Amino acid sequence: MKTAVTLSTGAAMPLIGFGTYLINDLAVCERSVSDALEIGYRLIDTAQFYGNEEAVGRAVRNSGIPRKELFITTKLWISDMGYEKAKAALEKSLDKLGMDYVDLYLIHHPFGDYYGAWRAVCEACREGRVLAVGVSNFYADRLTDLALQNDVFPAVDQLEIHPYHQRHEMEDSLREYGTVPQAWGPFSQGKTDLLDNPVLVSIGEKYGKTTAQVCLRWLIQRGISALPKSTRRERIRENFEVFDFQLSAADMAAIALLDRRKPAGLPHTDPANVKRIFYL
Ligand SMILES: NC(=O)c1ccc[n+]([C@@H]2O[C@H](COP(=O)([O-])OP(=O)(O)OC[C@H]3O[C@@H](n4cnc5c(N)ncnc54)[C@H](OP(=O)(O)O)[C@@H]3O)[C@@H](O)[C@H]2O)c1
Repeated sequence: MKTAVTLSTGAAMPLIGFGTYLINDLAVCERSVSDALEIGYRLIDTAQFYGNEEAVGRAVRNSGIPRKELFITTKLWISDMGYEKAKAALEKSLDKLGMDYVDLYLIHHPFGDYYGAWRAVCEACREGRVLAVGVSNFYADRLTDLALQNDVFPAVDQLEIHPYHQRHEMEDSLREYGTVPQAWGPFSQGKTDLLDNPVLVSIGEKYGKTTAQVCLRWLIQRGISALPKSTRRERIRENFEVFDFQLSAADMAAIALLDRRKPAGLPHTDPANVKRIFYL
């Protein structure tokens, strides 16, 4: 069964990765990442904004897993957009992680001078400090514009994707630029009734799987890498046990009907959300 997706760089990115957003307590973060690595996760997703890169780095080092077997992602925050600031921010992130390189470096949001930042991260990629460059929360219009202005296309676009927000409208643009989608908030961040949805519950019952596992399996069957986050060891394990069953075509079709075509919070195109993120 497929466990990774191939990026335009040729690198294999695991289909299930461990999310660390809002794991602010560094001891809890270190313990959770250690649990995830022990259970079998090889992709860890962090960000400058999460304030937990040091804890992620410690857990990785203490795991004893060879660095080349891991896939580490971090992200550039909006306060450091622009060429010079982005270069410095990447070095700071690498320092905090205690790593020579990250496997994937993402522009966290399409706000500020992300064109200057893109030049800096592409340069870092040529220097081997970053193995792949990508974006996050870039909708089709922003992704297209960035791609048209540059020779290097984003390898990944990390987006909110789950059964209530399926993102089929992104598929043509992603295909055009060879950009692989990755799902943040695969459980809609607990902001909706997704995990109690009766269609998903009944599909899970057929396979002896939880609704959370159905959401993740639906994503990876679409070839979308997913980043579930939990600080509870039993859930960290549950969220990784999605490679031993397969949703039928009828299940996939039933889930397709759940699409509400809107995020759990505000879209990135809403000025109120631009302001909210600016003041975070
Ligand atoms: N690029 C971006 O802008 C962006 C934005 C948001 C997130 N992300 C990334 O994507 C990752 C995932 O997104 P997210 O953390 O926001 O939301 P999420 O993974 O959709 O949801 C996390 C919530 O689900 C709960 N949960 C986890 N596993 C569960 C299970 N098996 N059953 C029931 N509940 C479960 C967690 O609680 P417990 O911890 O108590 O288990 C937590 O409250 C983040 O951690 C981050 O790495 C990126």
